[in-house]
Amino acid sequence: MPFSTIIEPFRIHSVEPLKVTTVDERRAALAAAGGNLFGLHADDVLIDLLTDSGTGAMSRDQWAGIQRGDESYAGSPSWFRFLEAVQELFPLPHVIPTHQGRAAEKILFSVIGGPGKVIPNNTHFDTTRANVEFTGAAAVDLVIPEGLDPAAIHPFKGNMDLERLDGLLAERAADVPAVFVTITNNSGGGQPVSLENLRGVRTLCDEHGVPLFLDACRFAENAWFIRDREPGQGDRAVRDIVRDMAALADGMTMSAKKDGLANIGGWLAVRDDALAEQCRNLLILTEGFPTYGGLAGRDLEAIAQGLREVVEHDYLRYRIRSTAYLGEGLLAAGIPVVQPIGGHAVYLDARALLPHVPPLQYPGQSLAIALYETGGIRACEIGTVMFGRRPDGSEHPAALDLVRLAIPRRTYTQSHIDYVIEVCAEVAARAGDLGGYRIVEEPATLRHFTARFAPL
Ligand SMILES: Cc1ncc(COP(=O)(O)O)c(C=O)c1O
Repeated sequence: MPFSTIIEPFRIHSVEPLKVTTVDERRAALAAAGGNLFGLHADDVLIDLLTDSGTGAMSRDQWAGIQRGDESYAGSPSWFRFLEAVQELFPLPHVIPTHQGRAAEKILFSVIGGPGKVIPNNTHFDTTRANVEFTGAAAVDLVIPEGLDPAAIHPFKGNMDLERLDGLLAERAADVPAVFVTITNNSGGGQPVSLENLRGVRTLCDEHGVPLFLDACRFAENAWFIRDREPGQGDRAVRDIVRDMAALADGMTMSAKKDGLANIGGWLAVRDDALAEQCRNLLILTEGFPTYGGLAGRDLEAIAQGLREVVEHDYLRYRIRSTAYLGEGLLAAGIPVVQPIGGHAVYLDARALLPHVPPLQYPGQSLAIALYETGGIRACEIGTVMFGRRPDGSEHPAALDLVRLAIPRRTYTQSHIDYVIEVCAEVAARAGDLGGYRIVEEPATLRHFTARFAPL
């Protein structure tokens, strides 16, 4: 295109109203939710950046797929269309549909996890870590050191630290049922993993006889970054890069709520016949028959169509550019964010913005609460609230205290994002006045979903 403005490669077909609330109304809503943004009524949220998971807008053709959905219990044509779309990108022989990503994780780790086992990953996502640890296995994060430094500029900050992985495998390969790589690395800032790094992981896995699995939720965004940043990849089709990534893997877990462009769904896919059989047996116990898993036929159709759309270059160019637009606006306002800007979200560095609030007083939570109170923006703490409680009950600062502004796919326009930048700048200007919080109530695991907070 001869013009530099990158536009949304779609027009709006159906709209959802947004409710504008006052600061007082938002304070009352926060009080009722115990300071936990997951506890809000979504009607009270103006711009919902809590997650990019399942919150995107489906296309006309996905809605048409919903109508076409065939609800046969076994062997539905919708299942075959889903299978074909998945295997077109990820040619793994066994595809096991689940209602979302964590169901795939639960099934897989129930089979391969257990006490004494170790699962390395660049960075485990919270549900992945929880599902690993629930079996008694240890979840070890081995992202490169740049991946832990919010200000470090590196094109592939999600890369696995190959030296540390080699060290772990040299010592404990017999206890490692799989090496995981999360693309893109959500908990580390939505940062991509290079093809070269994935090949390096594959070589180590081969040397030590360990399978390689992808947590592939944002595979298309990762492939776009590879195309954009990795030498020799710039002329390639994203779908071919995705196939290259898939060819390196022995299996994958997937949440179709991200790069499936669907509102629900996921799958587990594996090469190994015996592993697939064990997983399918568990699937039938908890999810459903192997040709629908945890999904309706119409959901399978929406995912099949979403997988075709998500690898389109116009879509990915707009997607990655619009996330960068938010990040650049925040940086221009002097707000510290994880750099370079990731694929699906911009991560505010709450520890840098609120240096007077120690990690165990949850600077990320404090910032997230202020964004909601000030402008009705719902963000997500990704820091000590999410990761601070260890399985032995002790509490420690997380590696980073971030606040994630996740961008739902194809949902908000540029003026929504300009508003977000303005609200963030206003909050940042009085960051020194924001105080810490304490937790007054929390569950045993995944506390960020339901913990209640009180200001200190
Ligand atoms: C990297 C990663 N893995 C796994 C999951 C879990 O997927 P789901 O929410 O569909 O259970 C998520 C969800 O956000 C994720 O970002």
